[in-house]
Formats: sequence, structure tokens, C-alpha cells
Amino acid sequence: VDLQPYNSFAIAECAERLVWVERDAELIEALDLAAEHGWPVTLLGGGSNLVLAGPVPGLVIGMRSRGRRLLSRADGFAVIEAEAGENWHALVNWSLDLGLSGLENLALIPGTVGAAPVQNIGAYGVELCERFDSLEAWDRQQRRYCRLDARQCRFAYRDSLFKQEPGRYVILRVRLRLPTQPDLRIDYAPLAAAWTATGLSRPDSRVVAELVCAIRRSKLPDPAVLGNAGSFFKNPLVEAEQAQALLLRFPGMPHYPQADGRCKLAAGWLIDRAGWKGRRQGAVGVHAEQALVLVNHGGARGAEVLALAEAIQADIQQQFGVRLEMEPQRLGD
Ligand code: EPU
Repeated sequence: VDLQPYNSFAIAECAERLVWVERDAELIEALDLAAEHGWPVTLLGGGSNLVLAGPVPGLVIGMRSRGRRLLSRADGFAVIEAEAGENWHALVNWSLDLGLSGLENLALIPGTVGAAPVQNIGAYGVELCERFDSLEAWDRQQRRYCRLDARQCRFAYRDSLFKQEPGRYVILRVRLRLPTQPDLRIDYAPLAAAWTATGLSRPDSRVVAELVCAIRRSKLPDPAVLGNAGSFFKNPLVEAEQAQALLLRFPGMPHYPQADGRCKLAAGWLIDRAGWKGRRQGAVGVHAEQALVLVNHGGARGAEVLALAEAIQADIQQQFGVRLEMEPQRLGD
């Protein structure tokens, strides 16, 4: 089965087998079938955080469950629940329609609800974990359903239990706890500037969502036009001493001191500064508006994407002594 329509990088690779599931029972049946035949299992959501490096062996299970509901509304908070196969951005819009706040900074992030906790999606000063209540998953190891709260999900920057124990859990549905009154986070400078420019005095979550969408559209390529998987590298965490040494060389370098004393650097700035922005290497390249995004100019193979990524990693290591870690999941041989 050709996976090109199902990955936002638009890489043409095949899955040995693919099945779409809508219900828990269908998922469990597919998992049992795979176990019976000894097929490795790969779960597929929106395919927006993948690099297909080769054919995917075994069974790919595409999550297509639908449904979202308001579970409770009391004491200034509402709890909503959505099935794993729902589109993330549609859920953000639906929460705004209900008059709820909290997800506006996460508008327009590609992908599904079930994939959101895996990398603890985050943008413009908000991470999913801050709005997270709990999730229901199928534990493949114990063969049972389980409910996991935020602590059990071990959320961190672009990280969670689901990356630390890959393959163990299948996320079925996610619950979010959202404020019923606007609770805006507009500390991200470009967002703050855009908000001020609206001249509005009353906090308005929907307006913030629109501003976030406009900022994203101006920097991030639309996968329907130019294949990509969003940020290709995580923003690296370095020791305070290393950040200080780099700041002496590059006084304007963006840097974000962390609670644990370390410092987060902007991978996009490092790659840009190293001269990669807008560069092209065959069918792949570095996006001209955001150096953290690698793009498929048409017909790219996964191997070409990975070769460009490795060249960038080696150069950043050499120029800045910083190791960049790839963010999207790599599948296939
Ligand atoms: N920068 C440059 N040149 C570039 C890109 C960035 O100089 O080509 C500088 C910017 O001027 C800014 C800093 O680097 O000072 C950070 O850039 P930006 O605010 O655009 O965000 P980012 O750190 O590159 C992260 C997330 C994005 C998220 C944005 C906004 C990661 C890996 N990426 O990018 O998430 O949308 O912040 O909050 O943390 C994604 O994960 O796919 C993603 C798009």
C-alpha cells in the first residue's frame, strides 16, 4: 500500500499491509492478528511527524476513530474528550465554539488528537501538558485498558512516556481540562505584538487563535503545497556554561534559560546562522522562511531527507559544538 498520501512529507514508500480502524475492538483485533503472524506493528495518525526511510514491514494500523464530547463544566473549567483519530486543529476550533479557552496557541498544528500527547505538542508558549487531563490507552504489554494522568505520561519538552516506552501503549482518547474564561498566554513576542496591534482590550481566545494561524502560515510551509514534517530538530538543551560561551561569540543568539539551570537554544537560529536557510540539495531543502523545517521539493526519498539532516547536524556540531536531535519519527529501513 502506497503511504505517500498518508505522510505530510509526501515521501513515496509502501506499507506491507495497512488497515484503518475506527473502534477499540477493531484495533485490538488488528493487534491480535499481527501478534498471531509475527508482524511488527506501526501506528499511523495524521502522518505529520514521520520520515519514511524505506518500506514499512508488517502491519500499519491507521487510527480513524471519531467523536468528541463535553464531559463536565464546573468551577471555571470544562473537561472535553476526543477520540484519537480526530483532527487536532478541528478539536481546537470546536473547543473555541464551546466558548472554551486554552488551546488557541496550539491552533493549526497538523496531526491527530491521539498523536498530540506523544510528542507533547507545543507552540507559542503553551504545551499540551498544561491543558491535559488524562488519556485512555490500550496497554499492549498487559493487554488491558488503562487511564493515565499527566504525571504518569511523563511529559517534557517534545517528550513523553510514549516516546520513552515506544510500542507499549495505543492512545485511544484524550481528555483536556480547559478554562471557561479566557486565559491568554501571549508572552511569545511576535504573538504579543500581533495582539497589541489588534487594539482589543478584552481577552479573546478566538482572536488569539487567528493570530497564531497567521504567524504559522507566514513561516511554516503548508504540507499540501510543500511536503514537510514541521520542525525537523528539537531545540537543544545545553549547560549554562556552554550557552554563556556561545553568547560571547554571538551576543544576539536567542536563548531560553530553563528552571533546571540549563539553557534551551533555537535550533532554527543555529541552522540559519550556519548558512543553511533556503539551501537545496536535490529534491530536498531547508525552508526559506524557517530554517528548522526541511522540505520535499518533489519526489524526495527518505534517504535524501536523512542525508541532508545528517549534513546539518555535522555542521552545527562543528560550528557551535551543539548536538541537534531529530524530532520526527523515522520509519522503514
Ligand atoms: N530563527 C532564526 N532563523 C530561522 C528560524 C528561527 O533566526 O530560520 C530564530 C527566530 O528569530 C527566533 C528563534 O530562532 O528568535 C526561535 O524561532 P521560532 O520562534 O520560529 O520557533 P522555533 O523555536 O524555531 C518552536 C517549535 C515550533 C513552534 C514554534 C513557536 C520546536 C522544535 N519547534 O520553533 O513547533 O511552532 O517554536 O512556538 O520546539 C514543530 O514542532 O513542528 C513546530 C513547528
